[in-house]
Amino acid sequence: MTLRCLLVSLCFPFAAVSLAAVPMAAAAQVDLPHDWKFHTGDDPSWSAPAFDDAGWKTISVGKPWEEEGYANYDGYAWYRVHVVIPSSLKNNSYLKESLRLELGRIDDGDEAFLNGKPVGQNAGKTKDITQGNWNLDRVYTLPLSDPAIHWDEDNVIAVRVYDHGGDGGMYAGKYEVGVTDVNDFARIDENSPFRFRTPGQLRKNISLVSTDPHYVFTGSLSILLEDPANGAILWRKTVPVPSFTPGTPFRYVYNAQLPGGQSYIALYSFRDKKSGKSITASEGVPYILTPRPAATPRINGTAIVGVRPGHPLLYKVAVTGTQPIAYTAADLPSGAILNPTTGVISGKIAAPGTYTVHLGATNHLGKAERDLTIVVGDQISLTPALGWNSWNCWGLSVSDAKVRAAADAMKRSGLINHGWTYINMDDGWERDTRDPKGNVVPNAKFPNMAQMTAYVHSLGLRVGIYSSPGPKTCGGFLGSYQHEAQDARTYAKWGIDYLKYDWCSYGELYPKPTLDDMKKPYQVMAAALAQADRDILFSFCQYGMGDVWTWGGATGGNSWRTTGDITDNWASMSGIGFRQDVCAPYTRPGNFNDPDMLVVGKVGWGPSLHGTHLSPDEQYTHISLWCMLAAPLLIGCDMTQLDDFTLNLLSNDEVLAIDQDPAAKPAQKVSATGDLQVWSRPMADGSLAVGIFNLGNHAAPASISLSTLGLSAPQIVRDCWRQKDIATTADAIVTPHAIPSHGVLLLRLRPAH
Ligand code: GAL
Repeated sequence: MTLRCLLVSLCFPFAAVSLAAVPMAAAAQVDLPHDWKFHTGDDPSWSAPAFDDAGWKTISVGKPWEEEGYANYDGYAWYRVHVVIPSSLKNNSYLKESLRLELGRIDDGDEAFLNGKPVGQNAGKTKDITQGNWNLDRVYTLPLSDPAIHWDEDNVIAVRVYDHGGDGGMYAGKYEVGVTDVNDFARIDENSPFRFRTPGQLRKNISLVSTDPHYVFTGSLSILLEDPANGAILWRKTVPVPSFTPGTPFRYVYNAQLPGGQSYIALYSFRDKKSGKSITASEGVPYILTPRPAATPRINGTAIVGVRPGHPLLYKVAVTGTQPIAYTAADLPSGAILNPTTGVISGKIAAPGTYTVHLGATNHLGKAERDLTIVVGDQISLTPALGWNSWNCWGLSVSDAKVRAAADAMKRSGLINHGWTYINMDDGWERDTRDPKGNVVPNAKFPNMAQMTAYVHSLGLRVGIYSSPGPKTCGGFLGSYQHEAQDARTYAKWGIDYLKYDWCSYGELYPKPTLDDMKKPYQVMAAALAQADRDILFSFCQYGMGDVWTWGGATGGNSWRTTGDITDNWASMSGIGFRQDVCAPYTRPGNFNDPDMLVVGKVGWGPSLHGTHLSPDEQYTHISLWCMLAAPLLIGCDMTQLDDFTLNLLSNDEVLAIDQDPAAKPAQKVSATGDLQVWSRPMADGSLAVGIFNLGNHAAPASISLSTLGLSAPQIVRDCWRQKDIATTADAIVTPHAIPSHGVLLLRLRPAH
């Protein structure tokens, strides 16, 4: 039998591939233990099977080492584990070709050994693991005939890791040893979004795809829809699959009717007749909770805006309801003007002070009114930024066209009417060299930055840019090192409203930074931005080093990343989100912790995209938790491909109002009992936002006494996602239904009188 290519990159001995395209279930595999041996430092003898690691510490894989007692550790470290590889793996295999080690994802680079033999590395083009890519699954293979494999005996897998900043280690993914088989060349593609014709009536397209030119798959496909709360199968179908080969996938569309408003799991399984092997996949079925906005006008978005005296103001009054809408703004301070057709307030206000403006929005069905507070003073970003950032979808492939398309989509999708404001380009806009005068210049993907910015402003949206205090950005583009004041002037000239400033290569200048070293580049840029003739929100990105939340505000930051980079899986999102209680107390108007950008919708870090790997319930948790935390919400997906479910996540005004609460008081972890965590946050109007999160693998009911929440008077309990009062209680909140696995019930409590 010829050696087939599992995926192109697997044919190269040391390549790591993304598992996104690899089937869920292998023919046969053994799980690797979660507990490995661990040592910081670097020594080639640590790859040897005979090396005695008994004195090493034990560490769990699947989490960054920062969460395992190695806070702020960057550099080399080794992981080792023992595993018996049963010969039944190869005997059960149809192809009998190669052994596959799946070592999850590793931050940042790695080199793996089986019984001392190198079996693969992730080191970019340079073969130096300091250049590895943190965001790829590690799948390494070697022929079954390789003598390094000790069948039915003890084997040692050793992994040498290098982390150059932020979170590090074997932080997420699958840990398995298996044998590649015919089913490894087939996958179930469930990437197309669910469509809902009427509530509960869903339609979904799936495909069976092959990458094996030598094999014709034929068999049957089964689809089950299951209620995860009780395991009941609510709908099932099995269809014959005549064949599928590369280039001719088998496509199937199913339609199913399900009671709406709760989560379901779709389970897919294809069985290949000839080999007897199966592939399976599963996904959560999205369900819409956000009610459609009323046809009558409603004013949404932040109700408080800060602007510095004499600096340009750009504030779009966000209103839902049938168009056209006529806008009014009574008592605008001198210098500010409202465009009554677009609802954009602009101008410059010279006199410091706090101004209450009475907004009105009228259509043929009615009128909405609300006050807007404009604070003219030193402080900007009085509530967390709401917007979009290019990184989680486009990575370094961001371009002028993609930024404009995101801005257009922000308007076309209606998200602008819910208060979404910023359109931010991340890394990848800069040219390699400065001009002869030392000015930073955009690369060919951005023909005219000032024109692009003016276009985004013309829609009522603001624009963000990205740089590093080091000579290079994380993507290897030009940073602001020794050109800070000049760059700040350039950004202001282009009309930029937001700067994300990413530590990156500054770390090479200060490999072991003191607290002062950490603060310095941010102080320098803060001083430069203070000279600009416009407000530029200053967003620090240094992954939480030196507990930045304790000094970010005093150093000129409006927000600061508290963690390494997020990815679209539960371990990453929940690992970041649920440890924010440490930084939460530092939240206040103008100063926000940033647990990183949203991973909902089509993401991919560019240029190719996939639907987020978070389940629908995990996405409800993601948005709810980030709102509870008063986090900046930066949508990380392709805005031109927003599906119904993602829009429902991003357009719930009662949920967004928690994030945008003008008091900006910190969230608190009230309790953590078993898998249930309860978080609360006091709102400006005296009500209390409460999130009940189920971190476990099974749906679970919950009951929380009012006294645990510090409340004594009877309370009206409102479900924020469903926008409905669900109970009045004098003693305890009892959840009306089990909270789904990894899901949430997001509530707002107000006194019942
Ligand atoms: C990372 C940062 C990401 C993104 C990227 C760009 O350090 O955390 O959010 O900005 O750099 O290269």
